[in-house]
Amino acid sequence: MTAPVVLHVAATPIAPALVLRPWRLADVPALVEAGRDPVLRQWITSLVDNEVDGARWVREQERGWAAGERFAFAVLEARSGSVQEQLVGNMVLKEVTPGKSAVEVGYWTAAPARGRGVAPRALDAVSDWAFDTLAADGLERLELLHQADNLASCRVAEKGQYEFDRVLPAAPPAFPHDGHLHIRRANV
Ligand SMILES: CC(C)(COP(=O)(O)OP(=O)(O)OC[C@H]1O[C@@H](n2cnc3c(N)ncnc32)[C@H](O)[C@@H]1OP(=O)(O)O)[C@@H](O)C(=O)NCCC(=O)NCCS
Repeated sequence: MTAPVVLHVAATPIAPALVLRPWRLADVPALVEAGRDPVLRQWITSLVDNEVDGARWVREQERGWAAGERFAFAVLEARSGSVQEQLVGNMVLKEVTPGKSAVEVGYWTAAPARGRGVAPRALDAVSDWAFDTLAADGLERLELLHQADNLASCRVAEKGQYEFDRVLPAAPPAFPHDGHLHIRRANV
């Protein structure tokens, strides 16, 4: 993949348009700020604590894009009255390999931007892009896993057209609680 991928999501009556593009080093301060939220820390383990870690994390995402193995998008909202965009989330396709029929998605929305459909709209855009781009390499389904008590994430799955598939039993210590597996297949 050569040119950077940029995805656009239209505005809604209650929310600005979204732009999704690969993470950049300039995003690090906003990434660190988002990671200070205790709710985010409750559900996401791979958060950065400071700018050094943040820069390392962004470099990892750049390597993922270059290798075609991991596609992490910064999600940005247009700010009214400004040309500047505000970082509002992350959307990622993990462990992509040619020939693999299933790929896992992951996401978070920064605390101030929650509740206006950022995650499901970004998820829908990335899911369409994944099937358009990776179906020729064998992609048949996208998988979304969340802890069973993460009700907000369960709603994102439903709104993003990821059907509930099954409960995944807890497997401590890595997975101390039951989870849900949701699946979206091509041609939704
Ligand atoms: C789960 C998460 C990504 C949802 O993102 P979002 O952009 O707020 O998505 P939505 O606006 O569609 O809201 C989804 C649900 O969150 C809840 N919600 C609504 N407003 C909210 C707010 N201000 N703050 C927190 N949660 C809110 C509601 O249950 C909503 O469902 P509903 O639309 O049926 O009422 C976000 O809450 C988050 O980042 N959580 C922490 C990280 C996480 O859990 N990631 C997923 C790991 S599997």
